[in-house]
Amino acid sequence: MFTYQRVVLTGFSGTGKSTVARLLANELGWHCLDLDDAIQERFGQTVTQVFESHGEAAFRRSESEELQNALSSTSVVIATGGGAVVAPNIAVRALLDSPDTFVVALDALTETILARLGEQQIREGATSIRPLLMGLDPIARIAELKCSRQQAYDQADLTLIVDAVTPEFVARELSTIVRKDQIDERAVTLRTTSGKSRILVDQGIFSRLGTHIRQRWPNARQSWIISDDYVGPLYTPKAIKSLDTVGFNVLVQHVPRGEGSKSLPVLGTLYDWMLDHGIERGDVVVALGGGVIGDLAGFAAATCLRGIGLTQVPTSLLAMVDSSVGGKTGINHRAGKNLIGAFHQPSLVLVDPTFLQTLPAREVTSGWAEIIKHALIQPSTPGGERGDLVRFLQRNAAALIDLREPAISYLIHRNIALKAAVVAIDEREAGARALLNFGHTLGHAIEAAGYLYLHGESVALGIRAAMRIGAAVGTCGSPAIAFVDDLLDRFGLPVTASVDPNRVLDLLGIDKKRTEGRQRWILPAETGVVIRDDVPLAYVTAALASLSVAAPKLRSA
Ligand SMILES: NC(=O)c1ccc[n+]([C@@H]2O[C@H](COP(=O)([O-])OP(=O)(O)OC[C@H]3O[C@@H](n4cnc5c(N)ncnc54)[C@H](O)[C@@H]3O)[C@@H](O)[C@H]2O)c1
Repeated sequence: MFTYQRVVLTGFSGTGKSTVARLLANELGWHCLDLDDAIQERFGQTVTQVFESHGEAAFRRSESEELQNALSSTSVVIATGGGAVVAPNIAVRALLDSPDTFVVALDALTETILARLGEQQIREGATSIRPLLMGLDPIARIAELKCSRQQAYDQADLTLIVDAVTPEFVARELSTIVRKDQIDERAVTLRTTSGKSRILVDQGIFSRLGTHIRQRWPNARQSWIISDDYVGPLYTPKAIKSLDTVGFNVLVQHVPRGEGSKSLPVLGTLYDWMLDHGIERGDVVVALGGGVIGDLAGFAAATCLRGIGLTQVPTSLLAMVDSSVGGKTGINHRAGKNLIGAFHQPSLVLVDPTFLQTLPAREVTSGWAEIIKHALIQPSTPGGERGDLVRFLQRNAAALIDLREPAISYLIHRNIALKAAVVAIDEREAGARALLNFGHTLGHAIEAAGYLYLHGESVALGIRAAMRIGAAVGTCGSPAIAFVDDLLDRFGLPVTASVDPNRVLDLLGIDKKRTEGRQRWILPAETGVVIRDDVPLAYVTAALASLSVAAPKLRSA
């Protein structure tokens, strides 16, 4: 079963369109059509000769005609020339925009493109080099041409960053998107010392909730759905039906929505409900909701009867990419966030991006913060370029902000894989997992200082502050601040905070830690992020002030 009828590969020369097209067509059992080959055949000349003898305009006209012909067939993967989609005629534009056509742009750094074109030249002889790139200073020429075409490439349904991956990998990724029957390819298995967590990402997987839970717990008698009073009425009826069909006795509890439910009194009501209704060790708790429900229900599952099976069904963007994965559960205390908790791996996590259709816009925006955090902690390339997730966010921003498929599912899967890889090597946060707290030191304090800001909003503010602290300490340069601010701005995350700075500092535990220990900061670095515990208080207050939090009057000791 195929999601699309045809695939069109666009992007600059040297990004591997022809090779990927051939490999993808093989995987799908489709034909492959390379526009350059079609033109060479039409004229009986190489691309360079066509350019020289007929001129660029004639070349583009022929390219457009060949593309239009190719787009009228099905089961085809089309590799376009670098400039083919730049100014398509109306008929071609309509065919490219058709829901049956999957347009994919392959993107690489200028240096990668040059290196690949150089290799191609050595392999195939000088005639294969694109005519528009001949001449002096090819880097500048590639950068200029690429920039002039970027807007057209950015109209693709999905842009993949290909610098560090093979054409085989790209073809497999695309095949997974095009072939609906390869659902298992979108699975991530997280193995830790405390257990295995199987994470499945697929649009519509929620309708198979019962089947998946029954497969994992063949002998369980009861399932305990915990949701909030907003998500619950929307989605528990379907969950009940699905679990009932596979023989579960289903019990349901809705708690008030919002951070306030991560509290001892609400947890107490869950314990009463579970124990009064006969919960058993072999049962399964289903956390159906955002991160609040995941943390709360997860902690109830971790502690009731010393641990019950857990399935996370995240319904917010933040919960899909972050909180449902990795096994951290817990509740808040007035002294701070998440201070009471446990590690309890969900054996099953079912991620269905279709839940996002009902998620309020402010909550979607909040989710971008953890995604941007994941992208920023990725180690940079040897050339000092940021990891591919940052560029994926930049290139696919419009599609992602509209929650468009397949970009959104692809991103969710990548984030889960990234987080799972970190948790797999450090489940209990003895080392690498601490890096996932980038932006959280101040973020948690800003959030807990009145709960005016959502978790992701607070993390975004914490990231902005961490960038400024990093520049002051010298772990990054000031251009990095502008770069990260721009990324956060692009996804609509807040710039300023209106909270009591003394309360923020109290929550950071600064007074106490000045005598008993040092505050640990995750700061930006050339290679991703680093941990530092030598940040002077003045840098922290300056960073807070830069978020328009009024300068704190420090209490005398
Ligand atoms: N355990 C972890 O590793 C981890 C990591 C990051 C964050 N967190 C925690 O996650 C929490 C934040 O999670 P969150 O942002 O999901 O908040 P949330 O659970 O409060 O959900 C946000 C709001 O959106 C609503 N909602 C959720 N899904 C919906 C949907 N599909 N349709 C309509 N409405 C929907 C909820 O009712 C709620 O009002 C914080 O408590 C944070 O500490 C935990």
